[in-house]
Amino acid sequence: MIYERGNAAKQWILNELGRHFGSRTCRVLDLGCGDGAKWRGFLPTHPVMTVVGIDTDAVAIARGREASAGLKNLDFRVADAQKPVEGTFDVVVAMSAVEHVVDRPAFLKTVWDALSPGGVAFLNYDVGHFRSRDIKERVMVPVSRLLAVVGIQGSYMKKVDDATFREQAERQGFSVVAMRKHNLHPLKGFMRGAGDEALVEWFAYEESLNARFSPEQLDRVMWSTTFIVRKPS
Ligand SMILES: C[S@@+](CC[C@H](N)C(=O)[O-])C[C@H]1O[C@@H](n2cnc3c(N)ncnc32)[C@H](O)[C@@H]1O
Repeated sequence: MIYERGNAAKQWILNELGRHFGSRTCRVLDLGCGDGAKWRGFLPTHPVMTVVGIDTDAVAIARGREASAGLKNLDFRVADAQKPVEGTFDVVVAMSAVEHVVDRPAFLKTVWDALSPGGVAFLNYDVGHFRSRDIKERVMVPVSRLLAVVGIQGSYMKKVDDATFREQAERQGFSVVAMRKHNLHPLKGFMRGAGDEALVEWFAYEESLNARFSPEQLDRVMWSTTFIVRKPS
């Protein structure tokens, strides 16, 4: 599989899913899935996995449904990740999505209720929006914060604080298996078009950085975070 754009951490999460869950029947819930583009590259080679993607954006879901028409193991729903989702799952993922959700405790409750006992969630968020050199993002962060004052919620203002999110996850009952920092600040899309081998090399390097440095140290140079949490059996 070739990583294409944006946050390379998504590809890392898919690799982890393939490695740990790819050889047995596994139900995955993707919260804030957008049009689910990444699953179209993944699921044909992982036919034992089934994915349900939910998103509040009906246009993205319609686009995803149309593009995935031939994929029997990918299903889409228009739904809010802050509210209960029907069904139980072995794995929940959220990729570049937690920072877009307003009510994080409600979101974590959805993850909890959706997971079977012993289930695992990969919850990923970016801080790229908040320190990007991209002109749109530099403008949108202060504009969104101003709009928030009058009650208008925008995607660019909901920065996730690592310690607060960990606390919220633990309060929900999750045990934190690991927390991982990804990507190089400020090079958004820096692995765009890289082949599998280059990505595997990069992920191994990231692994060694995560082993050697604290999240606080890495946060200065890396811009995406994944919490891996488990619901006790
Ligand atoms: C940056 S996009 C990431 C999309 C996708 N996960 C990907 O990696 O390509 C964030 C997505 O979260 C969705 N979103 C934001 N708040 C949501 C909520 N409360 N429930 C479900 N989806 C939500 C947005 O509509 C958007 O599609």
